[in-house]
Amino acid sequence: MTAQYQAHGSVAVITLNNPPVNGMNLETRGAAVDGINRALADDAITAIIITGAGNAFSGGADIKEFNSPKSLAEPNLHTLIDVVENCTKPVIAAIHHVCMGGGLELSLGCHYRISTPDAQIALPEVKLGLLPGAGGTQRLPRAVGLEIALKMITTGTPERASDLAKTALFDEIIDGDFFAGALAFAQKVAATRPLPKVRDQNVSHSHFSDVIEHAKKQAKRGFLIAPLDCIEAVSASVTMPFDEGILFERQLFYTLVAGAESKALRHAFFAERAASKIPDVPADTPIRAIKSAAVIGAGTMGGGIAMNFANAGIPVKILETKEQALEKGLATIAKNYQNTRDKGKLGPEKCEQRIALISGTLDYADIANADIVIEAVFEDMGVKQSVFEQLDKVMKPGAILASNTSTLDLNQIASFTKRPEDVVGTHFFSPANVMKLLEIVRGKQTSREVLASAMALAKKLKKIGVVSGVCDGFIGNRMLEKYIQQAGFLLDEGCLPEQVDKAVEKLGFAMGPFRMGDLAGNDISYAIRKRRAIEKPDMVYSKTADKLCDLGRFGQKTGAGWYDYQPGDRTAHPSELVRQLIEQHSTEIGLTRRTISDQEIAERLIYALVNEAAFILEEGIAQRASDIDMVYLSGYGFPLHLGGPMLYADTIGLANVEKAIRHYAQGHYGNVWEVAPLLHSLASKGQGFNG
Ligand code: NAI
Repeated sequence: MTAQYQAHGSVAVITLNNPPVNGMNLETRGAAVDGINRALADDAITAIIITGAGNAFSGGADIKEFNSPKSLAEPNLHTLIDVVENCTKPVIAAIHHVCMGGGLELSLGCHYRISTPDAQIALPEVKLGLLPGAGGTQRLPRAVGLEIALKMITTGTPERASDLAKTALFDEIIDGDFFAGALAFAQKVAATRPLPKVRDQNVSHSHFSDVIEHAKKQAKRGFLIAPLDCIEAVSASVTMPFDEGILFERQLFYTLVAGAESKALRHAFFAERAASKIPDVPADTPIRAIKSAAVIGAGTMGGGIAMNFANAGIPVKILETKEQALEKGLATIAKNYQNTRDKGKLGPEKCEQRIALISGTLDYADIANADIVIEAVFEDMGVKQSVFEQLDKVMKPGAILASNTSTLDLNQIASFTKRPEDVVGTHFFSPANVMKLLEIVRGKQTSREVLASAMALAKKLKKIGVVSGVCDGFIGNRMLEKYIQQAGFLLDEGCLPEQVDKAVEKLGFAMGPFRMGDLAGNDISYAIRKRRAIEKPDMVYSKTADKLCDLGRFGQKTGAGWYDYQPGDRTAHPSELVRQLIEQHSTEIGLTRRTISDQEIAERLIYALVNEAAFILEEGIAQRASDIDMVYLSGYGFPLHLGGPMLYADTIGLANVEKAIRHYAQGHYGNVWEVAPLLHSLASKGQGFNG
């Protein structure tokens, strides 16, 4: 049984009980229907309460039932809601903690809803590229009004029950003994007839067309269809009778479920969950408590990393070599918090509390007791060596020694200590206090306990942790190098930066490669190329990037890069000087410029990512294809509606991807393409990366 039935005097209480959040799977739905029927058959029962066990009313659909025929099997959610709504005895939803998706839709079918003040109320289906398909788009607007419903359904973000107290969603908000309050409420309404139904209400609204148009304008800023369909469905709650609106909602729902966008968003949802699992590190692996932290280096990354700890309530000490650098770093942190506070995103008290958790030092002795230390000094093996030798001397036994290196060999870094099993890579992305991705680099000797602890830390810092093996650039940057390489070749062969950027931005990329370079600073990749030139002298790349940097055009920070910038404005303006530089370079290397289609640009850039990813997967650097998708979705602005490079390639068909690569391999810079064996073998078997 996944819902319990209990009579409390004349009130029947049906308690949904399907941990962790009482997902509405087939058994739970069946047990709820049985409960209603049992209460109807018992003359002693005059009212029925539906509530949830543990810390949820209901989180909605059971994700274990996603994509399974069981989700539609009878009694499905529609049937359960009909049974509840048509029940001849009053049904009261007693809501606490979490009431989302199908859970909220069920409660909207009840005659009354009461709640604790702090319950989280949401219809989050849009986040999976769907809309609430069990009446949510028709009943919620009738309960809370058009504007609130539109906001909740198109964004999927939760509202506190107390913030909705003034709407018709709740009949009572109960502060205090909730169960006693629920029983008293049920007894109070037991004899009231007719039974109120949300479906019989009119939607309260004003300026209907303006509100809908405004919502559409907001939704069109993204690349997603689902928010627009949500708006269509919600408007039907005003323009159509209830039963027609329900049918319209259902049609839209089925179209979305079958579409590529929802497939991609659901893939991303499961990919995030899968990323937290490491096959040879069981879930019960002991983890080390992290109650204090230290960061070495107060630069761009060190400051952001320290803010992560403070935001999670963990005290953190930053160590620098010089007072001036330390002061500068701490001042930047304070300024960042001040900006957040000025934007109203953080209250003054919280802001002060967080700043107070961050302190600075010049002395290693002060950090010796930290549970974890993250090194974020210059990207130079010599500097890393001196830091890790020092850490090995001073840090307490059991401390986790982490490096934020973005390209260097973690195994070599670990070898500078006598405890390589305690060394792990924590590769944050810039700005470190904002970006969700955290690549967790597993060294040859990193212990399972340390790895599990780093994954748990990612969760605590509200990051998406993805495990990567050791290689130059790890998962994300190693793939990016091939993408940037193609972007450079496209310039040599006939494109300008703005054409390349637009070709991928129109697919939904947050930023094309050249706008990204200008934002990150072209000097950073310049420095990496100089190092690589020594390590890999036969490396081929477009020299336009070096020529750009020789002119001091490092990007936004110097007011000029691939584009021109006006002071204080991040808008990228195509540059005449850059055009000349690029065209002249083509002439110098004897290349006749040609017109290149947007399709070729997008394919060369994305397939460069995909092909390198196939090597990464085959080498075991990434654990699974969906981890690679997660890296690109959460760290590189890859369009969510395409589901990441691997799912995108699967959607195109790997045989088509291979064919295109072999075609580009005939081009001017064709010899850089080498079809990854894994890509070839999957393509020839008609399979995809994700199965
Ligand atoms: P940065 O140059 O902004 O900061 C480095 C800081 O380390 C400076 O404040 C410097 O004074 C300090 N430092 C240098 N040697 C030190 C030592 N021996 N002891 C203590 N402090 C020392 O560099 P950034 O950008 O913060 O990079 C740091 C690390 O993070 C590098 O390994 C880099 O590859 C990596 N990284 C950088 C990203 C970025 O976008 N900037 C992204 C991800 C990783």
